[in-house]
Amino acid sequence: MDFHIFQTPEEASHSLARGIASLIKRCEVAGKRPVIGLATGRTPLALYRELVRMHREEGLSFRNVITFNLDEYHGLGREHPKSYWRFMHENLFDHLDILPENIHVPRGDIEPEDTVRECQEYEAAIADAGGIDLQILGIGRTGHIGFNEPGSGAHTRTRLVELDPVTRADAVADFGDLSAVPEMALTVGCGTILEARSIALMAWGASKATVVEKAFLGPVSDDVPASFLQDHPSVSLYLDEPAAELLAAGCEEKHHLSKD
Ligand code: PGA
Repeated sequence: MDFHIFQTPEEASHSLARGIASLIKRCEVAGKRPVIGLATGRTPLALYRELVRMHREEGLSFRNVITFNLDEYHGLGREHPKSYWRFMHENLFDHLDILPENIHVPRGDIEPEDTVRECQEYEAAIADAGGIDLQILGIGRTGHIGFNEPGSGAHTRTRLVELDPVTRADAVADFGDLSAVPEMALTVGCGTILEARSIALMAWGASKATVVEKAFLGPVSDDVPASFLQDHPSVSLYLDEPAAELLAAGCEEKHHLSKD
């Protein structure tokens, strides 16, 4: 696992954006279409701003890029102001030359009887695209990746899940009131995420320090689904100093213990 620690989320996001630009260019040279898994939430906002800037000012083109978002709130239609479909369009897609048919976000406004089919079709679309080249992730305070809350196994697939109370409490800032925060969501599974050829996880701020330490220094366990990333061959962590503080201290301690 590669750890990249930066002074600010902006510096970290710019570094990751350059990595995405080089993936896009490598694929162009190879005549392939890059498949990128995308995340929502506050964490990727600086990354999306930088990608938009690179498109506008440096001519970085997304015409051949295929995207799959991790998740969507259950019960929200695409045009709902808090849907992740809207979030992605407002913060990224509307400002790029990406083709609408290459954008995939799980549908939140489906009837209960259609859920399994929707989830299977989402998995099939990822497979048809050739799998995910690079999966972008944030991490929730529960240790979730996507909306795979504690208890989600390493082999889980796209499905309807119940949101953890901590995750719902964190979403009050977006929805205004706890009663307005959806109780369920569709999320790709941990197994789906772990099949990505490479993974970049971002985390900012002291409020993520504890979960970052648990996920990357603690045991691999479904108590902290992000810990499954420890077993993936190509994971890069993009952290700011406050988010990395406990991890860095723990690594130093382990290093001393192993030298003693
Ligand atoms: P956040 O959420 O970016 O809003 O902190 C991260 C996540 O839940 O993955």
